[in-house]
Amino acid sequence: MEQLVQACKQALINAFPEIDAAQLVPVLQNATNIKFGHYQLNNIMPIQKILKATGKECSVKEISDKIVGELTKMNAPMIAKIAPAAVFVNITLTDKFLLDQAIEKFMTSPETLPKPTPYPKQTIAVDFSSPNVAKSMHVGHLRSTIIGDTVCRLFEYLECDVHRINHVGDWGTQFGMLIAFLMDKNMTDAAHELPITDLVAFYKEAKVRFDEDKEFCERAHQEVVKLQSGSELELGLWKRLCEVSRKEFQRIYQQLDIKLEEVGESFYNPLLQKTVDELTKLGMVQLSDGAQIIDLQEAFPLMVKKTDGGFTYDTTDMAAIKYRAQDLKCNRIIYVTDLGQLPHFQLIFKAAKQAGWIENCLPQHCGFGVVVGEDGKKLKTRSGETVKLQELIDESIKQAEEQIKQTKADEYTAEEIAEISKAVGISAIKYADLCSRRTGDYRFSFEKMLSFKGNTASYMLYSFARISSIVRKIGIDRHEIYNKEKMQNLEITADQERNLLVVLLKLDQVVKQMVEDLMPHNLCDWMYSVSTAYTDFYEKCRVINQDGSYNWTRVVLSEMTRQALKFCFYVLGLKEVERM
Ligand code: ARG
Repeated sequence: MEQLVQACKQALINAFPEIDAAQLVPVLQNATNIKFGHYQLNNIMPIQKILKATGKECSVKEISDKIVGELTKMNAPMIAKIAPAAVFVNITLTDKFLLDQAIEKFMTSPETLPKPTPYPKQTIAVDFSSPNVAKSMHVGHLRSTIIGDTVCRLFEYLECDVHRINHVGDWGTQFGMLIAFLMDKNMTDAAHELPITDLVAFYKEAKVRFDEDKEFCERAHQEVVKLQSGSELELGLWKRLCEVSRKEFQRIYQQLDIKLEEVGESFYNPLLQKTVDELTKLGMVQLSDGAQIIDLQEAFPLMVKKTDGGFTYDTTDMAAIKYRAQDLKCNRIIYVTDLGQLPHFQLIFKAAKQAGWIENCLPQHCGFGVVVGEDGKKLKTRSGETVKLQELIDESIKQAEEQIKQTKADEYTAEEIAEISKAVGISAIKYADLCSRRTGDYRFSFEKMLSFKGNTASYMLYSFARISSIVRKIGIDRHEIYNKEKMQNLEITADQERNLLVVLLKLDQVVKQMVEDLMPHNLCDWMYSVSTAYTDFYEKCRVINQDGSYNWTRVVLSEMTRQALKFCFYVLGLKEVERM
């Protein structure tokens, strides 16, 4: 599209030599109705405003006529038609241009993702998932894991250096209680693994004791002190407790096929006092009821040291942001948590900025709403318990399997069914989350997420499988479609083909926007529009004829669509299946 932008820019400069060229940036948008054109040039109103500021009154029509005149005069090879329409100018591109652009973008090889528009090589930290040791990983963490992974994948696609950071809550006073409880249960000298299958239940048991037994409570506090002062026995037990949780988390990450690098809260432990000292030196810390706080004139302050001398979640995040900006040299740090934590991060960003720690670094909170059940209330099991992630995943796979068995039981072997069910079940969970606007509350429904209709993972996977089957049906090797010579003489003959190309070519715009706003649902919407444009095309345009011969242009268009879907699957972390 760069050529089109350049042509428009030149036309604007020619039409308005009196305006500084820097102010004449073409505002190009996809046309709302392809009948009238493929793009709209939306510069008329801005130009009218600029002229007015210099004391020159110009009507919309005058400006529009000038732009159309200059664009026409330029005779740009990619433009087929220029037509003024109220406050913008419609531009229709030539078939050849649309085709060439799409070939350039999508048709490198079957194994290569669409070419990314050049993006500055940045170092980006994404802080996501981040469950807490000995507490259950809940649906909020699941959202963070899924959205965070997609954000990472987007920047990995753009060839940035991405740190996938799991800021696990693995440090804090709860460990005193757990260690004291281990001691009471004589579990301290088990050789390696702790004999705990359910750490969350163990935690609950310890907590009851903690709340009821004063003497125990006292011992728990002593254990925290010992742990924090580096006592070997306590450190060893702490490590083993973390290991139990880690195994459980890892099992979920493995199923979701999501990679994370664990850099938990404990990692920053040695930096905490230094962090407070430095902030104190900068004059940012003050005493308040014995605690050390940073007052940023917001609803509440940051607390960097408690009255009892302990550090807090705030202290750790201050240490972490400095470490990421200055040691990891991140250009951008993205925090993926529920929106409830937004105020906390706003304070952290403000304080870090004031401290001068993030001069070359953009911190950004990528927040999301709460997960609710179909009744609109917080997600619970029938018996009222909080839903376990593992059960959720198992259930999704199970329901996918039932569905597939109903329709395809005799087409596939049991193994194939298991594989497809897993792909569908997991993709459904991910996609349902990603395709709803992340800042809204998210209604969890197996029925909706596993449906074949509408904007769902099943529908997308099915579309992909349908396109994949074309190559099998005509019996060629997929690489053949990428043969450059055979791409020379493609011919567009139907509007559905044109429309499909125009939709496909929105990719850059979608990526550009997502890089800014980190909103995966826009990518899902685009994928859905690609899918529906393809369905339209497929219904009206024969790819394979009755006699087995095929239309090469349409085979290529199908392959481009497959590439577009594949790209979306990659960024969204969905697993494609060739057959379904
Ligand atoms: N462990 C926290 C929680 O479960 C999330 C941590 C988010 N990241 C951070 N740097 N504070 O709510």
